[in-house]
Amino acid sequence: MLLLSLALVAALAPSVLGCPQHLNNKRSHLQGRQTDPALNPNPNTTQNIWSYEASFNWGKLSPDYRLCQTGTQQSPIALSLGNGLSLNHVPKFNYNGSVAGNFANWGYGPAFTVAHNGDWASHPSFTYDNEILYLKGWHIHAPADHSVGGDRSKAEMHFVHVDAEGHERAVLAFRLDPGNFNNTFFDQLPPMIGFDEMQTQEPLELDLSLALESVLHFNEFWTYQGSLTSPPCHEGIRWFVARQIMFTGVEQMQAILGASTYSARAEQEVWQHRINE
Ligand SMILES: *[C@@H]1O[C@H](CO)[C@@H](O)[C@H](O)[C@H]1NC(C)=O
Ligand SMILES: *[C@@H]1O[C@H](CO)[C@@H](O)[C@H](O)[C@H]1NC(C)=O
Ligand SMILES: *[C@@H]1O[C@H](CO)[C@@H](O)[C@H](O)[C@H]1NC(C)=O
Ligand SMILES: [Zn+2]
Repeated sequence: MLLLSLALVAALAPSVLGCPQHLNNKRSHLQGRQTDPALNPNPNTTQNIWSYEASFNWGKLSPDYRLCQTGTQQSPIALSLGNGLSLNHVPKFNYNGSVAGNFANWGYGPAFTVAHNGDWASHPSFTYDNEILYLKGWHIHAPADHSVGGDRSKAEMHFVHVDAEGHERAVLAFRLDPGNFNNTFFDQLPPMIGFDEMQTQEPLELDLSLALESVLHFNEFWTYQGSLTSPPCHEGIRWFVARQIMFTGVEQMQAILGASTYSARAEQEVWQHRINE
């Protein structure tokens, strides 16, 4: 029964789309359906196939995934107030107005990709130090990737940002937990699209600044040098993790979890992450 459900998850999971990539074109993940690497040790059939259930093993699946095993700044990591909070790299947001895009499911949870007309400058953006970065989209992992003081939130939302050439450079992480009130950001969403409905895309306009308001615009945060949290585990990603929890209503959290499947990478050893430096 366990083997059966693992195989099912692997069959549904995309092999090419991973945090924090957001593709604007229709995904071709169905061509890549394969068996779960944890179940099939033949290297010729496991190449490029990965699952969250076996995230400790990604570095062995393909030469392209070496960094998952050998990288010095791999994400996610455990954070705590013992790290202090960051006084450096303070983000300044330019997230005005409603933003058009596509609501979908990235195969593991709810996702939204900002419509792209070729001009990144038309996207919501933020600056830190002397860099300006543009929002490509957001997606949700459940449970959360980052723990804080040993506590792991029920889910984590990633706002993925790219530079002017479209390369992933930074992720804003919002830790999500149920609270007493409905969240105005999630109030905007239509019914969730399930993780088994990856072909569905729904055009949608969102006020993304409502998410920033929920965490007081990252007034307190941790930052570090990290990586993608799925293969190929590329580094050079600056993470910003909000100290404030983004609280949702109970029904909102149930809707998020109902559309999600296990999607947290095992926590990585802190090495050259330069937390808050
Ligand atoms: C894997 O593929 C290579 C070349 O394509 C072949 O030589 C090798 O025997 C294959 N290995 C297995 C275990 O099938
Ligand atoms: C967004 O709003 C801020 C503050 O309200 C303003 O300074 C900025 O110029 C606006 N940016 C755009 C692109 O409208
Ligand atoms: C939150 O919204 C749901 C509908 O999505 C509603 O049933 C529920 O009563 C609301 N809860 C609160 C605390 O407002
Ligand atoms: Zn992610």
